[in-house]
Amino acid sequence: MNPSSIMKDKFNRPLRDLRVSVIDKCNFRCPYCMPAKIYGEGYSFLPNHELLSFEEISRLIRIFAAFGLKKVRITGGEPLIRPNLETLIKSISNSNPSLDISLTTNGYLLKDKALILKEFGLNRLTVSLDTLDDNIFKKMNGKDVSVSKVIEGIEAAEDAGFSPIKINAVVQKNVNFHTILDLAKFFDARGHILRFIEYMDVGTLNSWSAKDVVSAKEILSKIGEELPLEPLPNNYRGEVAARYQYKHSGNEIGIISSITQPFCSDCTRLRLSPEGKLATCLFTQLGTDLKTPMRSGLSDTEIADIIGNVWKNRTDRYSELRSLQKDKPNQTDKPRRVEMYKIGG
Ligand code: GTP
Ligand code: 5AD
Ligand code: SF4
Ligand code: SF4
Repeated sequence: MNPSSIMKDKFNRPLRDLRVSVIDKCNFRCPYCMPAKIYGEGYSFLPNHELLSFEEISRLIRIFAAFGLKKVRITGGEPLIRPNLETLIKSISNSNPSLDISLTTNGYLLKDKALILKEFGLNRLTVSLDTLDDNIFKKMNGKDVSVSKVIEGIEAAEDAGFSPIKINAVVQKNVNFHTILDLAKFFDARGHILRFIEYMDVGTLNSWSAKDVVSAKEILSKIGEELPLEPLPNNYRGEVAARYQYKHSGNEIGIISSITQPFCSDCTRLRLSPEGKLATCLFTQLGTDLKTPMRSGLSDTEIADIIGNVWKNRTDRYSELRSLQKDKPNQTDKPRRVEMYKIGG
């Protein structure tokens, strides 16, 4: 396989975006991702030797870069739990100066990490925060963490020079939907880009039901009642969020609508799990293992061949298929799906 040739999958989609989950642990227990009753004190996460080392991740990213990769997003679990994560950022940034390197975090450890992440080459930051209501947030993070803890992290990121910061908020009916206007006002005033995410049927453990989803349309209409919006064009083909701006401020807000308006046709994302397995879709099981070939001494060219074959044979378009199955949308292939916290969204 010649890595410099533009490689397309079965639906003619190039590989542009690698999401790297660096750890399967998290300091939150959001019920829609890691329900506390399942992920209790005794739960066995991956032991350290099973995790890809920073050297292995950096090596893989160099190999991926030759396929025309534009972006790397570091995720988890909670990526900031992985000790010295900034050294991984530095290594990726040094070897691939034109790569867009971003990170998604729950913000809990961000206060102490924001500056060093910026200094070591992190380009962009996304913080998850589902509501500003303390009581609701404590339930939604499953660990009694206050909103102020995450806001402190966001402020540290502002001070470190991240701008704009993206904020991700999953919206669930009868949980936090009634609080979305407060979030919108708060982050509009700060000039950060809030993105509301339709609650998705990822993984197998969150008892997802279509009844709990709030559609992009409902979210937009609720925000628009008080803060009129107008659509913005995509920044690039395949962008996950549909973008809008507030008429009064010109600031941006986005909606990620995997349920009601799937975006598979332009999906250029590949996911790498903490133990080095590839997932060609957020809704598949973990597939091809890259750790064993790396640890058994395969060359970069041989690893590139493995990656190339995975991408060339990719046919995933789960969200589009789900939307065609309107009668029982949560039943497609459910037991074979990777859990969200292993693959980082
Ligand atoms: P940028 O445009 O680079 O800022 O990144 P992004 O919008 O892809 O960022 P982010 O990782 O924050 O994605 C936001 C959320 O969208 C994720 O946490 C997922 O919940 C969802 N998402 C991202 N990629 C996909 C995808 O390929 N399929 C589906 N169904 N959902 C996705
Ligand atoms: N549906 C939509 N978004 C989810 N996330 C986690 N689980 C789900 C789900 N079931 C979000 C997190 C975080 C990002 C990594 O993915 O809240 O913002
Ligand atoms: Fe919550 Fe993210 Fe942790 Fe999952 S990985 S429990 S969504 S903070
Ligand atoms: Fe890509 Fe799968 Fe998400 Fe569709 S459902 S956009 S193929 S990750």
